[in-house]
Amino acid sequence: MDSRSLIELERQPFKQRLAHQYAVYLKELEHGYMAGREGHGPVDRRMKYKELNGDAFNEVLVFGSNSYLGMSNDPYVKRKVIEAVELYGIGTGGSPAFSGYTKQHKDLEQRLAALAGHEDAVLLPGGYMANLCWVNGLMNRNDIIVYDKHSHASVINAIKMTGVPFYTFDPDNLDAFEELLERIKARAKPGVQVFSTVEGVRSVDGTVIDLPRYLQVCKRHDVITILDDAHALGTVGKTGRGTLEHFDVIGQADLRMSTCSKAIGAQGAFVSGSKEHIFLLRNFSYPYLFTSGLAQPTIAAISAALDLMEREPERVTKLHENVRYMQDQLEAVGLKIIRGESGIIPVFIGADGMVRKINRELYARGLFVNIMEYPMVPPGLERLRLSVMATHTREEIDTAVSMIAQAAREFGCL
Ligand SMILES: Cc1ncc(COP(=O)(O)O)c(C=O)c1O
Repeated sequence: MDSRSLIELERQPFKQRLAHQYAVYLKELEHGYMAGREGHGPVDRRMKYKELNGDAFNEVLVFGSNSYLGMSNDPYVKRKVIEAVELYGIGTGGSPAFSGYTKQHKDLEQRLAALAGHEDAVLLPGGYMANLCWVNGLMNRNDIIVYDKHSHASVINAIKMTGVPFYTFDPDNLDAFEELLERIKARAKPGVQVFSTVEGVRSVDGTVIDLPRYLQVCKRHDVITILDDAHALGTVGKTGRGTLEHFDVIGQADLRMSTCSKAIGAQGAFVSGSKEHIFLLRNFSYPYLFTSGLAQPTIAAISAALDLMEREPERVTKLHENVRYMQDQLEAVGLKIIRGESGIIPVFIGADGMVRKINRELYARGLFVNIMEYPMVPPGLERLRLSVMATHTREEIDTAVSMIAQAAREFGCL
């Protein structure tokens, strides 16, 4: 189903939508076009997958995992998790506000806060919840938020749920952003607080935004900033601390969220900031207060991954080298890409149905990559999204590039 038909479908009443969507689902399943696949075994550079309606698991080369530093299946991380299970067990048995908060949570929060030059942090079960957490804990209908038009679905959902009035902006046009802030400020009632959020690394194309200038504009207009560094932690900055380190502006965003499900290779997420801001989240934010504390094995996995980032900075260097190498090779065969700084490489290879067809063919030949379509990107900007890992070898990168180029040629896109 192409993106325009999907937009049409969204306008139909619920019962029609349900019947129509289910029929489409069955048809797509029959043709093997559904994106959902079932994996088997640890997340690594090679994995076994089967399609939802298939019966055999086949090994594929993976260029579609967010485990950018290759830590999801790392022996040190696994050993630390096993040790933690022996010492602390599994679940926390309650929300952090009741019985589910331990010394391990506190120690990890301090460590994660320090990465952004902040005083404190709260841990959440995932990045989606972390974005709900800061919106819910900091703002209400009397405030205003100006959000990056590329923001993750969780930010947009949180804004809708909280009812905070909003505007959007394009981080590629910070002059227009500043003019928008001036207009908002001129019209706002006294005491209205303006917040703004931006993605440090754009999840759809892997590039970093001009964070120093964004922060300066926000500071000039007394806007509280929240940086979504989901794809930046572990992938940008000399030691992987994220966009703040990349631009040498550690400590200058008011709050920073990131997830531990991508480069950190585990799960869970956090929001860091000043003592006062984090106090608000810890004591007033429903997504933090009313969900159980992060499980002990997850805490151990995140802590061990941070140990590795500190001890083995060459992982981040290797990721950067691999990304540059793959970008060079993709361009050398004539493919259109965006050159970003993180682990994501978008490849533009024909719109709508074509991206799916090529993706399907690549998968059948043993290469797993993701695609981005509407509603993740506007119609016409569909793409393959490659995710590079620090642990990929040059041979694996060469293989992936030649498979993509070959498929593109066969489908008349190159
Ligand atoms: C920019 C951004 N923010 C937040 C999230 C949510 O993170 P999580 O998968 O940990 O819920 C994602 C995940 O894709 C993301 O890309």
